[in-house]
Amino acid sequence: MKSKHILNLVVFAILVSFFTACEYEFVEPKKSVPIVPPGDTISFSLNIVPLWNNGNKCTSCHGDGGTAPNLTPDNAYSSLTSMGLIDQTTPENSVIYAYPSPTSSTHNWKKYTVDEAAAILLWIEDGAKNN
Ligand code: HEC
Repeated sequence: MKSKHILNLVVFAILVSFFTACEYEFVEPKKSVPIVPPGDTISFSLNIVPLWNNGNKCTSCHGDGGTAPNLTPDNAYSSLTSMGLIDQTTPENSVIYAYPSPTSSTHNWKKYTVDEAAAILLWIEDGAKNN
């Protein structure tokens, strides 16, 4: 009876040290800054187009004369609509959102960050306006 009690204590101590160790290994996720602050109107030209064009993130390949869709400021909207890459009925099925999304298994050469993907989805849910 007594040795069983000691065994329980040992198991308890091991468990405590295990969970304490886990605590130290925990990595704080980076605080993200939303691209569109809550409550703000989302603008295609101000909030969305730069995601594809800043630093040529997407336009290095999807630029003038490159791979379709053309995501440059002058062509992005017409390119997306004519290729049918926006699904307003089921926004999360939109190819322009889902194909390079951070969790997708497609388009491995370049993906959105979590914040960029969230902004794209928000824009589509908001009616995918050319504003
Ligand atoms: C290194 C070159 C490259 C970069 C950078 C790149 N893409 Fe692509 N992308 C391609 C190629 C090549 C294809 C066509 C092959 C395929 O479907 O995977 C493609 C396909 C796509 C498609 C699917 C088009 C269709 O016809 O269904 C979308 C949407 C897309 N890219 C969006 C993006 C976005 C958004 C970015 C920036 C985050 C980006 N791409 C960056 C090369 C690139």
